[in-house]
Amino acid sequence: SHVLRSAAYSTATEVKKITVIGSGLMGAGVVQVAAQSGFEVNMVDLKQDFLAKGEKIITSSLKRVAKKKHADDAAAQQRFIDDVMSRVHLSTDSARAASESQLVIEAIVENLKTKQSLFKALDGAAPQETIFVSNTSSLPIGDIASATARKDRFAGLHFFNPVPQMKLVEIIRTAETSDQVFDTLFAVTKKMGKVPVACKDTPGFIVNRLLVPYMMESLRLVERGDASMQDVDTAMKLGAGYPMGPFELMDYVGLDTIKFITDGWYTAGKGLVGDKLIAPSSLLEKHVKAGEFGRKSGKGFYSYEGVGADKGK
Ligand code: 3HC
Repeated sequence: SHVLRSAAYSTATEVKKITVIGSGLMGAGVVQVAAQSGFEVNMVDLKQDFLAKGEKIITSSLKRVAKKKHADDAAAQQRFIDDVMSRVHLSTDSARAASESQLVIEAIVENLKTKQSLFKALDGAAPQETIFVSNTSSLPIGDIASATARKDRFAGLHFFNPVPQMKLVEIIRTAETSDQVFDTLFAVTKKMGKVPVACKDTPGFIVNRLLVPYMMESLRLVERGDASMQDVDTAMKLGAGYPMGPFELMDYVGLDTIKFITDGWYTAGKGLVGDKLIAPSSLLEKHVKAGEFGRKSGKGFYSYEGVGADKGK
């Protein structure tokens, strides 16, 4: 049973067009699953070459999906890709894109001021009924929503990497998010083929609240010299059934991202300030200082030379 409310679809508004702001790995993934599920999607970013990169992330992922869907039929694979891409519209004009959408999903840089100023501008441009959501993994939804006059139509919609593959979406509701908005997001997520869970606006929501301290504990274990990083990864894969060990997973998520999340919680996370579980780790700091962010920079705890950042494991 749902803690926050079970969804009654009757009150959900119909979403036909979605605008996704930000065409990085997360944003592009959300665009892809939305278009694959039949939504019309505007993919928005600041510059054409950012959009081109996002489009490349989508088409290379769609190729993998198409190969599974239509093995040995190259023409059918191409038709599938063309059909999905026909629903993806590229734009550098976020206000215009939002003005024609029932749902705006933000997946830009993890900076509160930047997100607030984006949403403030969109608040004036989008129709009254348009729902705004953020895909943030580290900032309070309520703080972002406070820049708008639609706090009842504001929520968090948190996807996981790789977005096309991971089934979960966390729906974050603040004290002000309306039941109708929650129900609409629940229905949209289901239509995307995902499994929604609900969580209050608390640091890390469900997944990161548990996963991030686990990652930090794995760093401490290696820092103390109790075991090697390779053995910790092997242990968690073969002893606990995780698809990746914690060091592989940190490289996958991005070491800069892990540091950004834990630093934020340690200094300002509700109920987490000064908590030793998420205290800075010297091993993590060392890699981040050296510019070793993981898979996306070619090196983190492990080396990924010649492996694309968007290629799963
Ligand atoms: N697009 C489409 N399909 C993809 C894909 C992509 N980008 N990446 C992987 N896949 C598919 C593959 O095609 C393959 O499909 P199949 O099994 O049907 O043939 C399947 O996923 C498995 O891929 P691989 O065989 O290449 O590799 P793995 O079996 O190791 O799986 C993985 C890769 C799905 C990434 C798996 O290792 C995994 O689940 N890892 C953990 C990921 C995780 O925990 N993510 C959450 C991170 S936390 C987060 O995102 C929150 C943020 O806020 C910090």
